[in-house]
Amino acid sequence: MKKRPENLSILFAAAEAAPFAKEGGLGDVVGALPRYLARMGHDIRVVIPRYARIDRERYGLLPLPGALVVPMGISGHQYCGVYEGRLPGSEVPIYFLEHEQYYGRDGLYQQDGQGFMDNDNRFVFLSKAALELCKMLDFRPDVVHAHDWHTGIIPALLNTSYLHDRFTGGAASLLTLHNMQHQGSFYPGLMEVLGIGWKHFNFLELEKDDQVNLLKGGICHATLLNTVSEGYAREIQTPEYGWGLEGVVRERATDLYGILNGVDYEEWDPARDPFIAARYSPRNMKGKALCKHDLQAALGLPQRADVPLFGVVSRMVSQKGTDILAEAIHRILEMDVQFVMVGNGEPWAHFYFGDIAAMYPDRFACYIGYDNVLAHKVEAGADFFVMPSAFEPCGLNQMYSLAYGTPPIVRATGGLDDSVENFDEKHLSGTGFKYWSHGATALFDTIGWAVYTFFNNPKGMAALRRNGMRRRFTWEAAAEKYEEIYRLAIRRRRGAEYCRNRFGE
Ligand code: ADP
Ligand code: GLC
Repeated sequence: MKKRPENLSILFAAAEAAPFAKEGGLGDVVGALPRYLARMGHDIRVVIPRYARIDRERYGLLPLPGALVVPMGISGHQYCGVYEGRLPGSEVPIYFLEHEQYYGRDGLYQQDGQGFMDNDNRFVFLSKAALELCKMLDFRPDVVHAHDWHTGIIPALLNTSYLHDRFTGGAASLLTLHNMQHQGSFYPGLMEVLGIGWKHFNFLELEKDDQVNLLKGGICHATLLNTVSEGYAREIQTPEYGWGLEGVVRERATDLYGILNGVDYEEWDPARDPFIAARYSPRNMKGKALCKHDLQAALGLPQRADVPLFGVVSRMVSQKGTDILAEAIHRILEMDVQFVMVGNGEPWAHFYFGDIAAMYPDRFACYIGYDNVLAHKVEAGADFFVMPSAFEPCGLNQMYSLAYGTPPIVRATGGLDDSVENFDEKHLSGTGFKYWSHGATALFDTIGWAVYTFFNNPKGMAALRRNGMRRRFTWEAAAEKYEEIYRLAIRRRRGAEYCRNRFGE
């Protein structure tokens, strides 16, 4: 599409982008949002590392001529190659940084539960290389859009060493906070690699608890900030959800927005999903029963239609309430129910839920690992989808489950609270089941409510399914909101530049 003058140039810099490299929802967002922004006419470029698992041939990636020279402060200049591809189903260019030492290994962030020792350099390199890439591409972004701690330092770089850069000097920055728990906190010496001067290692900028905190640097320096739901934008201003950064977030509260993620309905739609046993839609739900049958077979459970089947697809970490589920699961399985779980994460959970499967072979089955096809089968085949999260910035699975007519059972926090409406038996309204206190008893009670509804309230079940499938969370709507924030950020940046030129720094 031809670039109109009012269209924007935006650089997305992130650690993940589906389908190339994805550990969670960050990958989904970076794989989808740019495509929808491009459809609006904007010139979007995406940059991520070329991890070893990204097969260059499979995706037809082509090398760009030359190499990027990336200034890594005290570590000197470092070099990397760049490969170019397209986000599938679009013309959006995505660039992959080829650096064997940093990215030529299995795993994006860790191995066997241990974060890589050089994650500081790996992601500072990504952040700087993303800005250097603009020179190679002759690309002058209006906005650089950074995501989470991995590229969170970019706004600080734009305000310091890149302030007068010919390509990125005028760029505004937006930092999206997908998760406040992970902040990129490293030894102070990292300041020497950042090369922006020790004066920025202070309480108001990059320093937290005597460490360099990359996310904090981004929060302080970004032109604007957003989280992936309105609820989470409010929550992170409190000690319970701010992970020690609630003070700096509050400082910037007027520059902080909440935009709920969208669903890529081209991938998550039961009417055309190629991974599920039978297609179905609100008008003809027959296929859903076949999907349940198929899911039970896939995971070795008795193929019964008359039992409520609960599903989980999730990273197995405390954020997702895996510990709470572990506490509640024996009580849940005393009822006549089935439960399937697809996930991986903390090693204790692999053993624990593996044992549960051995103890209750007719009721509980799990697949430990990452399997996208199985994730689709769970969304379609389960009667209910369970998300007992301690915190959830947005959460995508509950929105997928709504689309698949699988009412979610959620703890009312962040995006879960924003996207699910509690079931009202009297008015047959609502899309799922909510509870508030983060504990095994509340989870068990709410699952009990769902079991009761399954057996005794067929009208309620049908209404829940119907209401959920009608609910849409489109990327088109989210992309429009992002566009608004980009424009606001550009105005702010220009205003700041004007003041700097007129009154000096
Ligand atoms: P988070 O990013 O915190 O993990 P989200 O709900 O935003 O949570 O996104 C999770 C994404 O990762 C969804 O697309 C989900 O289907 C996918 N996912 C998580 N675990 C697995 C797994 N074990 N196998 C397949 N897909 C998974
Ligand atoms: C994070 C959050 C999740 C959110 C995702 C995408 O991983 O944990 O809630 O949906 O980012 O924004």
